[in-house]
Amino acid sequence: MRSHYCGQVDQALIGETVTVCGWVHRRRDHGGVIFVDLRDREGLLQVVFDPDRKDIFSAAERVRSEYVLKVTGVVRERPAGTVNPNMNTGQVEVLAHELAVLNRAETPPFHHDEQANEELRLKYRYLDLRRDNMTANMRLRHKVTMAMRHFLDTAGFIDVETPMLTRATPEGARDYIVPSRTHPGKFFALPQSPQIFKQLLMMSGLDRYYQIVRCFRDEDLRADRQPEFTQLDIEMSFVDEADVMSTMEGLVRHLFQEALDVELPATFPRMTYAEAMQRFGSDKPDLRIDLELIEVADLMSSVEFKVFAGPASDPEGRVAALCVPDGSSLSRKEIDDYTAFVGRYGARGLAYIKVNDIDAGREGLQSPILKFLPDDAVSGILERTGAKTGDLIFFGADKARVVNDALGALRVKIGQDRGLVADGWAPLWVVDFPMFEKDEDANRWVALHHPFTAPSINDAKALKADPGHALSRAYDMVLNGSEIGGGSIRIHNQDIQAAVFDLLDISEEEAEEKFGFLLTALQYGCPPHGGIAFGLDRIVMLMAGAESIRDVIAFPKTQSAHCPLTNAPGEVSAQQLKETGIRVRTPRADS
Ligand code: AMO
Ligand code: AMP
Repeated sequence: MRSHYCGQVDQALIGETVTVCGWVHRRRDHGGVIFVDLRDREGLLQVVFDPDRKDIFSAAERVRSEYVLKVTGVVRERPAGTVNPNMNTGQVEVLAHELAVLNRAETPPFHHDEQANEELRLKYRYLDLRRDNMTANMRLRHKVTMAMRHFLDTAGFIDVETPMLTRATPEGARDYIVPSRTHPGKFFALPQSPQIFKQLLMMSGLDRYYQIVRCFRDEDLRADRQPEFTQLDIEMSFVDEADVMSTMEGLVRHLFQEALDVELPATFPRMTYAEAMQRFGSDKPDLRIDLELIEVADLMSSVEFKVFAGPASDPEGRVAALCVPDGSSLSRKEIDDYTAFVGRYGARGLAYIKVNDIDAGREGLQSPILKFLPDDAVSGILERTGAKTGDLIFFGADKARVVNDALGALRVKIGQDRGLVADGWAPLWVVDFPMFEKDEDANRWVALHHPFTAPSINDAKALKADPGHALSRAYDMVLNGSEIGGGSIRIHNQDIQAAVFDLLDISEEEAEEKFGFLLTALQYGCPPHGGIAFGLDRIVMLMAGAESIRDVIAFPKTQSAHCPLTNAPGEVSAQQLKETGIRVRTPRADS
């Protein structure tokens, strides 16, 4: 139907006749002449309707926003003074000879340039995707997946599809389940990841596998979490951590090169989990922010102030300081807001010292807790934090987990609020994770990664003797404070796998029931193997500078895992329920 995309008609075509198709972006009447900005995915083109051509002029008068047109006309230079240097097509316009209105459109519920609310945007997602930044996000995503495939194909990886209708794949979230009609009362689970299948493919000898694959997790949603999301899933045989990590650095460097023309470092820094928690209170530190948590527990163990002294002498406690440059200008209200902010992470307060004059001793300091602190504690704090006149020092004292969560989040918030986030890209690997974490409520061990991750001690007895100190052979890739990928070297020995299941309180029967096929497979010649999965949505979100992964997913769900466009999830017919042997309990009005 067309000879050119609207957005590609430029000076090279002056004098030529073109046919373009697209949507009416804007229509303006100017003293008898009608201008239509016609839009397609490549951009806008100014089309001029002259009153001399009566037939099409009256049709042009009737077109409205988002009508679909086909226009044939001659490309000409724009008159001086109407040139728009910011547009690809800004030097030219098309004088229309023919106009076909291919379709009409209702007045859209929101305009292109309007900040519409997200519910509305998702309900009319097809209109939302017409916006150029959303189209750009979709194209960026395409570019990234193309670059992934190209790199991995060249490196000898084979793309294999794994089942969507399967059994539980433990990644720590709830499963989405699918009833079976042919096996009434039984259910499939949608995969939380292809973890077990990709390991089985290594046992099959495929050696290098990848898949760009949908994963399903029924968990609490956030800006960077969706119930269905996409992984770039990878597994390799006969490798150790160094092999996987260097190959993946190559991959991510290639993606940034291709998609953004950005050069990432040749190797990414590595940091242990312990160091990341100590310095940044987070296992995904944003290294663009030059603020660190400073340990001060040893200065506080014998102070009068119980709030600090308690955690300072508790082996599971932590007392840490965060020095905010120029923070003494923070108002009472701002400090109260930060106190409320850390409260969301369980902190019971946010003590602070304002350093009004570093040379004036105690007189130069202002703080509600100063009276509780002896001189040596105060001078120790000032020295260790390196505080200067005009700074403010925040404190967290509690169980280490609470202090890390609270001050770790505060560090990022203050970095953002006060313009302390440097430009650019700061990738790193976080390594040496603990193998297990204590679930205090249930008083049992849970796998920090997943139960197939190899422990760093390859000995079932030693592992069982001291699970709390065992490290795993897992690695996370972190970029600008986001966990963009995680993986590990896997257990390929049946005894170790059985020991890990045992430590996780998975009984032999349960292990057999759920993962028997994997345990069996381990007996038939399993190569050492390891891999990783990247969050595609998160990578594209970061590249696009988007606030949420919803902006880089064509048809995402809301925060409550609902789709306003299709209105899913929905009810099913009585017949479908009957066939699958399901009776629905109507939720009681009071529940
Ligand atoms: P993991 O659970 O760490 O590892 O997931 C890998 C990566 O997927 C992304 N991700 C998500 N993105 C959007 N929404 C979600 N709900 C979501 N959950 C995870 C993150 C994360 O780093 N099978 C293992 C990988 C392996 O061991 O090889 C796994 O799934 O960016
Ligand atoms: P209080 O004695 O409870 O009034 O607290 C004195 C100061 O210590 C206030 O600024 C509180 O915000 C702060 N504070 C209280 N509990 C903690 C805590 N666990 N960690 C850090 N600061 C705290």
